[in-house]
Amino acid sequence: MQRYRLALIGFGNVGQGFTQILRDKGEQLARRFDVQYQIVAVSDLLKGSLYDPDGLDATALLEAIQNKGHIQNLPAPHQGWDALKTINQTNADAVIEISYTDLKTGEPALTHIRTALALGKHVVTTNKGPIALRYPELAALAREKGAEIGVEGTVMSGTPALRVGQELLGGTSISKVQGILNGTTNYILTQMENGASYQQALAQAQELGYAEADPTGDVEGHDAAGKVVILANLLMEAPLTMADVSCQGITQVSPADIAEAKAAGERWKLIGAVEQTGHGVEASVKPLRIPLSHPLASISGATNAITYTTDLLDEVTLVGPGAGRLETGYALLGDLLAIHRNSK
Ligand code: HSE
Repeated sequence: MQRYRLALIGFGNVGQGFTQILRDKGEQLARRFDVQYQIVAVSDLLKGSLYDPDGLDATALLEAIQNKGHIQNLPAPHQGWDALKTINQTNADAVIEISYTDLKTGEPALTHIRTALALGKHVVTTNKGPIALRYPELAALAREKGAEIGVEGTVMSGTPALRVGQELLGGTSISKVQGILNGTTNYILTQMENGASYQQALAQAQELGYAEADPTGDVEGHDAAGKVVILANLLMEAPLTMADVSCQGITQVSPADIAEAKAAGERWKLIGAVEQTGHGVEASVKPLRIPLSHPLASISGATNAITYTTDLLDEVTLVGPGAGRLETGYALLGDLLAIHRNSK
């Protein structure tokens, strides 16, 4: 049985969802894959920090959050360590970076990831900021240090959009990737088509936990643009940055626009795309009116979808959740299992 010790940097929804998955699936993972994942440290600015080199109890962590909203009173030999001390001084083999995301600087997650990789620790993250801004540098550092970096949850949460593109379609040439990459805006557009106002629909998306802490990044298209950059870098070997994506969100789409599209048998969707063209790689996020017969038109609510255009298979489409606590938590497990497979 191979055992991995994990340090969680951040303990919000995603960290709690991941902890719940480990608690509930420990036996299955041991049986199927001969692997055991043990959380040894959690460091969260608001909820508290604990480190026990012999492992923390997942059930106790989740109960403390549920009952008290923090983990500060749980017994552990070390308490109150900040993120960097946790990364530097615990015995974790892998760092799970799930602190808040910042698409402008990538910090503080970028420093967390660099620090962990420099120590030769694996990193698994759902954090879009550092990956959209610095993936080539981080991947090179990981290679140099013999560590791995897993980023599946940065695009379409646990739906394996990156793994399908990188590994399963790795023998094809992907000339275009396009999709519905932001759950919040797709939810808002769907609800507006059903009669809700923009404000009502946004409030619901926030309540359901799809939206970012500051939903501006969702509705203005920046979240989807970050995902487009990640897709370009990972699937098309195109080193694009955020500045290369022409980006427009959904704030200008009015109820009248939506009604007009509906009457014409069409539907507004916020489409993120990256395409190899005659003039190089072009990337965009913009609202498009698409016919109902288009495969992406039927994707409703917070669901995401991605279509890969390839030389050998033409179009392949993957549909699945793009946000959510267990859904994003699962991305972390998927990456950890890939690291375990690669270690053999
Ligand atoms: N705010 C994002 C969305 C969450 O709505 O899709 C997942 O990245």
